[in-house]
Amino acid sequence: MDRRKILVTSALPYVNAGIHLGYMVEALQTDFWVRFQRLRGHDVRYFCGDDTHGAATMLRAEREGRAPEALLDEMKADHVRDLNAFGVVHDHYSSTHTPANEALVGEVWAALRAADCVDEREVAQLYDPEAGMFLADRFVLGGCPRCGATEQYGDNCAECGATYEPSELVDPKSAITGAVPEERSHVHLFVRLEPFHDFLETWTQAPGRMPQETANWLKGTFLADALRDWDISRPAPYFGFEIPDAPGNYFYVWLDAPIGYIAATKEWCDANGESLDDWWRNPDCEIHHFIGKDIAYFHTLFWPAMLKTAGFQLPESVHVHGFLTVNGEKMSKRTGTAVLARTYLDHLSPEYLRYYYASKLSTKVDDIDLNLEEFVQKVNADLVGKVVNLASRTARFVKGEALPAYPTARDGGLFAAGAAAGEEIAAAFEARDTNKAMRLIMALADRANEFVEAQAPWTLKKDESKRDELVEVCAIALNLFRQITVYLAPVLPRFAEESAKLLGIEGETTWSDATVPVEGNVVGKFKHLMERADGEKVEAMLEASRAGWEASEAEAAAAAGAGEALDEEPLEAEITIDDFVKVDLRVAEILEAKSVPKANKLLELTLSLGGNERRTVFAGIKKAYDPEQLVGRLTVLVANLAPRKMKFGVSEGMVLAAGPGDGDLFILSPDSGAKPGQRIR
Ligand code: 2FM
Ligand code: ZN
Repeated sequence: MDRRKILVTSALPYVNAGIHLGYMVEALQTDFWVRFQRLRGHDVRYFCGDDTHGAATMLRAEREGRAPEALLDEMKADHVRDLNAFGVVHDHYSSTHTPANEALVGEVWAALRAADCVDEREVAQLYDPEAGMFLADRFVLGGCPRCGATEQYGDNCAECGATYEPSELVDPKSAITGAVPEERSHVHLFVRLEPFHDFLETWTQAPGRMPQETANWLKGTFLADALRDWDISRPAPYFGFEIPDAPGNYFYVWLDAPIGYIAATKEWCDANGESLDDWWRNPDCEIHHFIGKDIAYFHTLFWPAMLKTAGFQLPESVHVHGFLTVNGEKMSKRTGTAVLARTYLDHLSPEYLRYYYASKLSTKVDDIDLNLEEFVQKVNADLVGKVVNLASRTARFVKGEALPAYPTARDGGLFAAGAAAGEEIAAAFEARDTNKAMRLIMALADRANEFVEAQAPWTLKKDESKRDELVEVCAIALNLFRQITVYLAPVLPRFAEESAKLLGIEGETTWSDATVPVEGNVVGKFKHLMERADGEKVEAMLEASRAGWEASEAEAAAAAGAGEALDEEPLEAEITIDDFVKVDLRVAEILEAKSVPKANKLLELTLSLGGNERRTVFAGIKKAYDPEQLVGRLTVLVANLAPRKMKFGVSEGMVLAAGPGDGDLFILSPDSGAKPGQRIR
């Protein structure tokens, strides 16, 4: 078989959120495929990185009072840590905010200009006069024009599913400042796609290019009509790359994001003495993208048009997967089913999820469901009950002994059948049909277990005269076990390694190891290769996930309550004096102040309201004050705010503060002479 040169990518995760179990579907599907290709001996590189640009990054960095770069570094480190903990290892994990990417974006842009595909025209958009910026759809909130649900985003309604223009919202307001947006016009740059129509028709419809359903969808929707121009510029302020020949305008994040695949390769090439053109301008290099169905349109229309124009190699294949649901429902923060990778890892082994996702993924674009009961059951029945069992029931009888020449005469053709199944299993991996691959492998495990049952080594063990027979039976069981772990290696690499150690096997595993029995190796001591999955740990994970989301929301609310977001959330409603007197404002003395170790922004304050009345309040003022500075100070407490349960305890009120937030925050204090407990009126 020829050694293929293969470049693989997973979609670049947004820098603004932690890695969650939805993204893990993609990262793991890619990792299975990459590891499989390596086992087959191909020359594979796997690249990814953070998708960094856009208004959301800019606004978050502003809110947190730090440079975007600091945010980027922190999030990237978290992403890499979580992905690696799941066994997902890239040749290089980069970011779209790099000099390499900026240079390549410039190159692609120059090519688009040279090909005369760029137009300019005015675009009317909602503008926030207070923030001084145009608002992307996600930054406009208002009533749904169809069902009237309030607080809906500018592009679609979460209640009734309607899609619309932000200007159609009822009583729209900016999600950034709360200001009423105005419609304003600005010149945008567009890439014309229609000149690529014929090319895209041919390219997208080529057999094997992408799942048939994706190809059909493109043909039936976009390619059925003239292709619409693509708006690739955004006016300042925007966090991204400024367009070299249109100052004051930035490339839309979706233009520079996929170029990040090339930039990550470039950085890796520079560090490893390789040439970028060997990977991205080489018809002998296969480029494979793994993506979710929601971004198929960027990867199958705009992206090939850009690559073609700039003279890069086109992807061989775009592998598209569906969304993840948990227990049959959309993931939800409220119920804890929107589980972060980190939360999962705090409770459960990454190998369980690797196997479960492998058993669910196929060539289809269908959504996959993480059914948590089935998850526990499948891991225990298949991995522990069928695979580990083969070794746990036999290895101990031959511990410290050398395996004999493989006793082919006794195994009823099992090893040979397993070796012959290798090509069918490989074909399933190649096609990303890991569901089929897992079924084929488990069928081998079933047959191996039937053999062990029938031969009953535990009975042979009791009869010293059957010693040779016992050794042969164990050698067969352990070789079948080894064969299975080789086939499982793309999915369970750590498990495959541990299993190899048990049989004294050294060196890199390759796919063809499954065809050669292990002979002469000394069997080690059997260690637990995998614990049973525990339903209670799954429950604990969900509970931690739910509490984690609640705490982060409460922390944001507490930070806002302490004045942090005051300039972003101006009071809109007029209130009457009757409304105002409902607010019980009291003078309070800060008796104690201490930092909440696991929260970025919170201090825990113990307040006196005079006499013995004490209150505990969590205030988002950590970045503005050292706790010692506060002790003994008077401040103003909203005393009749409903207590709020937070991860760290119950907050019994709110301390008032002024200022834009973070370090720039000033708690209010009455003049000296005021007494704790006095009402403010
Ligand atoms: O949809 C997303 O999560 C994007 N961040 C994916 C970008 S993939 C690529 F084009 F960079
Ligand atoms: Zn609606």
